[in-house]
Amino acid sequence: IEREQQRFAEANYDLCQNAIRVNKLMASLMPSMMLVMNFTIIAIIWFGSIRIDNGDMQVGSLMAFIQYAMQIMMSLVMVAMMFIMLPRASASAIRINEVLETNPQIKDPEETLSADKAQGILEFKNVSFSFPGAEKPAISNISFTARPGETTALIGGTGSGKTSLINLIPRFYDVDEGSVLVDGVDVREMSQKSLRAKIALVPQKSVLFSGSISDNIRYGKQDASDEEVRRAAEISQAIEFISGMPGGFDAVIEQGGSNVSGGQKQRLSIARALVRRPEIYIFDDSFSALDFKTDARLRLALRKETADATVIVIAQRVTTLMDAGQIIVLEDGRIVGMGTHKELLNSCDVYREIVYSQLSEEELA
Ligand SMILES: Nc1ncnc2c1ncn2[C@@H]1O[C@H](COP(=O)(O)OP(=O)(O)OP(=O)(O)O)[C@@H](O)[C@H]1O
Ligand SMILES: [Mg+2]
Repeated sequence: IEREQQRFAEANYDLCQNAIRVNKLMASLMPSMMLVMNFTIIAIIWFGSIRIDNGDMQVGSLMAFIQYAMQIMMSLVMVAMMFIMLPRASASAIRINEVLETNPQIKDPEETLSADKAQGILEFKNVSFSFPGAEKPAISNISFTARPGETTALIGGTGSGKTSLINLIPRFYDVDEGSVLVDGVDVREMSQKSLRAKIALVPQKSVLFSGSISDNIRYGKQDASDEEVRRAAEISQAIEFISGMPGGFDAVIEQGGSNVSGGQKQRLSIARALVRRPEIYIFDDSFSALDFKTDARLRLALRKETADATVIVIAQRVTTLMDAGQIIVLEDGRIVGMGTHKELLNSCDVYREIVYSQLSEEELA
């Protein structure tokens, strides 16, 4: 903390000294400019009054002359101001350009392959990945296949690499080794557009935008009809609280969704994924903020809706993923167990530990 305080103090001191210097300059510049201006006016009036006295000039002409002289003087002041504003503006422009000129690291290949058969088979082949600058890999040597009509669940302690793993599917990051295949095509060989059209990802932290509820749901699919939006809200169990809000689907969501609860936010972002009706659904801990009853109802409705799709679910609660067709247990970025709930209970210590910490003996039976 002390270091941060010192850094803050240093930056502040720097800014302060600069501002003082600029203002000192301005303080001496402005009065001298004013002095020049006012002396000019005095001179004009002085010489003008002599001419008027002699009858060579009208009072009106003198006034006009003063006005013109003032205008010229003011422009000179503006030029002086420009010299102060210019460096500031150019510094800002350089920074803005830095952002605009940043090239994305993830690029589409020259020639894109498209996976025509729209099925949604997802395959990881010996995938390893580490974040830039990280000491150890976030994901190492992961291989599994997720098939349509099947739910693949990921479980593991915090920091075990679950989110990192699913971030590789829509190419938020590129793998270091191995490959991620969607419908048999490496994701690096597809265009990002066609890849992401196949995927709906509900992130761990749901993000809502300021706008109406239907706008927020429609963010998944711009041209969704009211009926589709309504259906998505029904499946995601959001309909009850939406109809309770003033204006229903037109109710206003504030920036970042600050006027809805965490669980409501999660349900809205699930609805957003559902309107897209993609081939692959990815839910990153999307049920964590729901009570058990809502969670159960949502999963029941989801199962019907996603019957033909590939579903990847990350969850901390064993109850959420007990009935998944395939459960993958992650620890430190490695797979330590893969199979159904029953198989893992017998074979995987890590899984058994997680289960016993959450469920009582009766529930297990
Ligand atoms: N953007 C990042 N840059 C560098 N390291 C990261 C980044 N995101 C995650 N990590 C590291 O990668 C590891 C795995 O993180 P990850 O987010 O995948 O965990 P997780 O399993 O999703 O955990 P949780 O259950 O808490 O969501 C962690 O050790 C974390 O410190
Ligand atoms: Mg996570």
